[in-house]
Parts: sequence; structure tokens; C-alpha cells
Amino acid sequence: EIGSGLVGSEMCIRDRSYTMKNLLVTLFAFASLTYAHAAEKETIRISTDNTDLVLQVGENGRLYQTYLGEKLLHQQDLQNFRWNIHAGSDGSVSKRGWEVYSGSGNEDYFEPAIAITHNDGNPSTILYYVSSSSKPVEGGTETVINLRDNQYPVDVALHYVAYPKENIIKTWSEIKHQEKKPVVLSTYASTMLYFNNSSYYLTEFSSDWAKEAQMSSQQLQFGKKVIDTKLGSRAAMHTHPFFEVGLDQPVNEHQGDVLMGTLGWTGNFRFTFEVDNVGNLRVIPAINPYASNYELKPNEVFTTPEFIFTLSYDGASQGSRNLHEWARNYSLKDGKGSRLTLLNNWENTGFNFNQEILAELMKEAKHLGVDMFLLDDGWFANKYPRKDDHAGLGDWEVTHDKLPGGIPALVKAAKDADVKFGIWIEPEMVNPKSELFEKHPDWAIQLPNRETYYYRNQLVLDLSNPKVQDYVYGVVENIMQENPDVAFFKWDCNSPITNIYSAYLKDKQGLLYIDHVRGIYNVMKRVKANYPNVPMMLCSGGGARCDYEALKYFTEFWCSDNTDPVERLYIQWGFSQFFPVKAMDAHVTSWNKATSIKFRTDVASMCKLGFDIGLKELTADELTYCQTAVANWKRLQNAIMDGDQYRLVSPYEENHMALNYVSKDANKAVLFAYDIHPRFQEKLMAVKLQGLDPDKQYKVEEINLMPAATSRLEANGKIYSGDYLMKVGLNVFGFIHTQSHVVELTAQ
Ligand code: DGJ
Repeated sequence: EIGSGLVGSEMCIRDRSYTMKNLLVTLFAFASLTYAHAAEKETIRISTDNTDLVLQVGENGRLYQTYLGEKLLHQQDLQNFRWNIHAGSDGSVSKRGWEVYSGSGNEDYFEPAIAITHNDGNPSTILYYVSSSSKPVEGGTETVINLRDNQYPVDVALHYVAYPKENIIKTWSEIKHQEKKPVVLSTYASTMLYFNNSSYYLTEFSSDWAKEAQMSSQQLQFGKKVIDTKLGSRAAMHTHPFFEVGLDQPVNEHQGDVLMGTLGWTGNFRFTFEVDNVGNLRVIPAINPYASNYELKPNEVFTTPEFIFTLSYDGASQGSRNLHEWARNYSLKDGKGSRLTLLNNWENTGFNFNQEILAELMKEAKHLGVDMFLLDDGWFANKYPRKDDHAGLGDWEVTHDKLPGGIPALVKAAKDADVKFGIWIEPEMVNPKSELFEKHPDWAIQLPNRETYYYRNQLVLDLSNPKVQDYVYGVVENIMQENPDVAFFKWDCNSPITNIYSAYLKDKQGLLYIDHVRGIYNVMKRVKANYPNVPMMLCSGGGARCDYEALKYFTEFWCSDNTDPVERLYIQWGFSQFFPVKAMDAHVTSWNKATSIKFRTDVASMCKLGFDIGLKELTADELTYCQTAVANWKRLQNAIMDGDQYRLVSPYEENHMALNYVSKDANKAVLFAYDIHPRFQEKLMAVKLQGLDPDKQYKVEEINLMPAATSRLEANGKIYSGDYLMKVGLNVFGFIHTQSHVVELTAQ
């Protein structure tokens, strides 16, 4: 570590006389040169089974990306790469290179990864390679690369965890310094990736309430395209923290190279895609630094969010399977465990319920065959009871005149009905009409000197304040202490941050957006540590929270309040690009009653199945159908929840949709096929399945049929080889609007 030692001693005496300083700078320059030669051949290879990310120390001692793409067969080929060849062949420009963690103030004129204002006002940061090491971690190998500025005591550690089998790389950075006073970070990316292709096509996932994960694509041309959010909490309401980039061609489900990336951050995020003057692309995933000039104290470590990415060489469907597998194995809370089917009461009763009504619904849950009854919003607060969304948030005591027996009576009623009991909370929020707000107005994020504006009549609690963190944690703790049998939480978050100002942070407002999110994680960590076996649903006015950091603490998330099955086909198609269906909650409701209960249930059965509907609304046949569908879903969990998903026919491209699941042993598969709005006499194509064992024989049986119905599928009851089913396919599409078929395939 020649470089680092000298950097250290130079820093200690930085403030002495000018001559002394000059002498040291010269000495340092000499040392860097020596070091640069020593490090010249340093090559760091971060590999999965299919992908190589190759980094190299340049002649100047800085770290460059020399390759990112399909795995290379021969180690000696890595020496062929030159750190500075990517920018073109003309003189000075060619020296630019692809610096791995490019700092502001260097000779690169494009978007940097890091910008720091130092104690002396200097806004530049240039990082030099110091050392690297690797160690095995669960599922893969972690490589840590240490970089250091040669003029300021600033260290950056780049972390990469490569998961070979899943072909996932997870990367983040740690920034710290030993300057005398805090430095100001104004840019702090998780990482930077570079691509050299003929063209780039971005698929983004825009969103709004009841309109989540809407996919659209565009070609990236010279300049920057930025996807970001400034919503603070409920941060992903307008766009989600994930994207796809088609390399050389638009993203295709089944073929072609595609980068799929997602940031684990439940707050403001920013993805920058910049195509430079020579047609190379840099991708910069980061916390959005908007209103967040972060004052970092000496020796404090600023850890960026994790950026998780995969490169697929067989289209997005394969990339999704990589992510699904990785999430279940290493990331999602209880990723390998089972999930609870449920009956929720939100769409059915809204705020209008009492103990008797809920006890009845618990019996209905049992009758339906689901595992749990989930009580939604409206059960708490007394001085300002939660009878609608104007009051009560913050006062997490049961409304006595509505539920005189409290939660214990509800837990008992659930036990009597032989179902589990789950409960809704929104603990990060407060209504101004609440006892909590009367007592602690300073706990709410709000500007002291401006008119307050509200979103859904509420304010966001200031989670940068440790006292508030304790209070929010206490919401879960109090419920669990009193009722250890509570089996599930739905954790909602309905408001973005409005009136951004923290009474707690005083003159350090630049920390708020970030420390607020870290405060949320502190709470979630405590909940997970103390209640590791309680499953939790992440919800944010529908699906405005859906990232892999939050999902370390949650078993699943609510995709959308939009449960119209036609809309859900698109929403679920979008989210399934990044999340396993095990994490995606889908409920059968009364949205779009023009569609049959079968169609609605078949759509929800592709994800984690639940119901939010009064059974009294259903005819006897419909109820029987639902009971059968629940039983089928439970029986087929092995394929649906824990198997591989193959998206076959996109609703974005056809008037139909189809996908199939295959269990890991390839003995069971389930095909879901939907006719959305077919045209008159349009040409109907057979659906070719994927992922089956070509040499196995599969019996084809249509399931989820209405009681009196028999299958009209020609293939029903027949046996075909996996090869035939994948090459010739099954005729499952028809001409009638909003029809569906669920087909079970069993290896003989
Ligand atoms: C928004 C959620 O998405 C709904 O499912 C429901 O829980 C309401 N909040 C309750 O206020």
C-alpha cells in the first residue's frame, strides 16, 4: 500500500508552511508514479456464471472499467483490455477512459459519481486505487476495492457481491473522510456502469395511484435521460426504482442483451443514463441528491444504497428469473418460506365495521379456505376516531366504542373461526387531528413559517429523530406485546413528504431526505430482529414502495389498489420484471364487475392470492369456484411461488396474455392464459410453453373451472411431451373478451 501510506502522512501535516507542503506534494507525486507503475497491471475481475465485470488500474493509478458483458473464457484475455481505449482514437480525448467512480473536477466532462466540497472549499475529488480484496459471502463473493483521493483524506470503498448462479451483481459504495470539519457531499452514486453498443433502448416503469408499473420504451440519444423522484416517502408513486436497457436493440422478452437494474432505496432515487460524444452509455444509479447536500462528519461512513443488476443475453424474461431466484434465495424476508392466503376487508367494508361484522368476515375467510383474515384501516383512535381518512393517524389504540373487546377479542374471534389474524398500520404518519400531533407537533415534518399543505389529510413523521423511531417501532411492539398471536402486518404509507423541514435537524436540513429513510430502516430492522417470523406486507397507497432494501424486512408488497383484472395484467407484468410473484400481492375484489369472478380470480392466482370481497356478493357457484381456486393455488404453490416464471405473451403486444410457471424439478407446470379484448376473427396462435423438460410426458388438465363447466380445450386430458408443448404449443386463446384458462401440467 505505498500510495495510501504517503497519502496519510501528507494529510497530517497539510496545514503547515507552504514550502513544506510543496515538498510533500512533490514527494507524493513521485510516490504516486512509483505506485502507478506497481499497480499498472492490477486487474480486478468480478464474475458470475454468465457475466464478467473487469476493472483495471490505469497508468495514472486510477480505476477504470474495461469490460462488462458475457463471461470470457480465457483469463489471459483480460490483459488485452486497455483502460483508456473506449473514448475513441483521437489524442487527448482517448485518455479519458471509463473511470469506475468518477469524481467531479477530473478531466471527464460527463456526469460524475461523486462530488464533495472539502473543508477548504475545493469542489474536486479524484480517487486513486489503493487495494482490493475478496471474500466468500452467502451465495457468492464480495470484492471490496479501496480508493483514496491523493489531495484530501477521503476514502471510498466500492463493494461488489457477485452471485454466480443467479447472475446477479449487487454493488454499493462507502464514503468517509478525516478532514477537520464535515465535508459536503452533493453527489453520491451507488456505482457507475459503462456500455459501448450501437444503440440503447430504455424501458422505464412510470406509475401513479392505481396505475403502477406502466412500461414504456425509448431510444437513448446523445445527452442525459434522468428518472427520479422527489416524493420522499411514498417515493415510488410516479416512477419505480428499476429499469431495463436493451443493448443494440429494444428490450425483448425472449432474446437479445438487456441490462436490468434496481436500487434498494425507499426514498428519493435517481437514475442517470448519459450517452456521450462518442456514443458510449454510462448508467448512474443513486440516491437523488435533490435538496440533500449531505454534511458528512469526519470518520462517519456514508453508505449508498445497493444497486442490484443482471445482464441477460436471452431477453428480459431470463433477466427476471435471475432476479426472482436471487430475491428468494438471499434478499426477500423469508424468501424461501410459504405465504398466507387471506381475506382483507378494505374494499368490502371500508371504515364501516364493528366487532360483529369482523367476526362474520373471519368465518367467511374460513369458508373460503384462506389462511388469514386481514383487518384494514379504521380500527384505532378515540379522541379523534378514525372513521374516515381525516383523523386518528398516530393514535394507535383501538376505538373502544367500535371494537369494545380490543384486538384481543379480534384475535380470539379469528381463533374461533380457525383463521389467523393480521392487522393494518400506517405508523410513519400523523393526522393533525390526533392526540399525537397535539402532544408532539414537532415530530411531524412541516415548515415552521409557511402554510401547511397536506396529502390525504396527513403529515409524515420525522424519522430522522430517534425518539420518533422509537415511537414508530412501539406501534408494532405494543400490538405484539398485547397480542403475540397477531400473524401479519400490512404496513401502509399513503403520503409523500410535504412541507419538507425537520425541527429535529435544525440547521442540517440537507440530511433530512436521507436520514429519514435511514430512520425507517432502523425501525424495520428492529421489527425484523424481534419478530422475524411475522410476515409483513409493504404497501404505499398501492404499490408506491417496491424496492429490495425495504423487502429485506417485508415478505411481500401490495402491487396496486387497482384490482380491475384487465389493468392488473399490465401491472403484474410490469412488477414481475423485477420481483418474484411470491412478493407480489394480488386480491380478488369487485373492481370491474363486468368481468367474471373466474377471470378476476385467475388473474390474482398468478401472484400471491388474496380476496377483498364480501362473500355475500357471490352466487353459490361463484363461491364454490373461489373455494376450488384457493385450494388449487395452495396445491400448486411449489410451481407458482417457488418455481420459474416464463412470460410468454405480453399484453403490451397482443390482445391476449400468457405465462407459465414450472416447478424446479420440472414435474409440475401451470399455464395461465387470458383473452383481453380480441379482435373479430383475429388469427389465434398456439401458446408455446417454456421451461419444461423436453423428454418428459405431461398430462394437460384445465383447472379453475366454474362448477357446471367442462373444459373446451382440445388438449384437455391428453398427454404431450415437453418438447411438443414447447415447440408446437397449446391452443388456449379464444375470441370472447375477458376469458381465461388455467392449465395444470403434470409429468407422468
Ligand atoms: C391504501 C392501501 O393501498 C389500501 O389497500 C388501503 O389499505 C388503504 N390505504 C387504507 O387507508
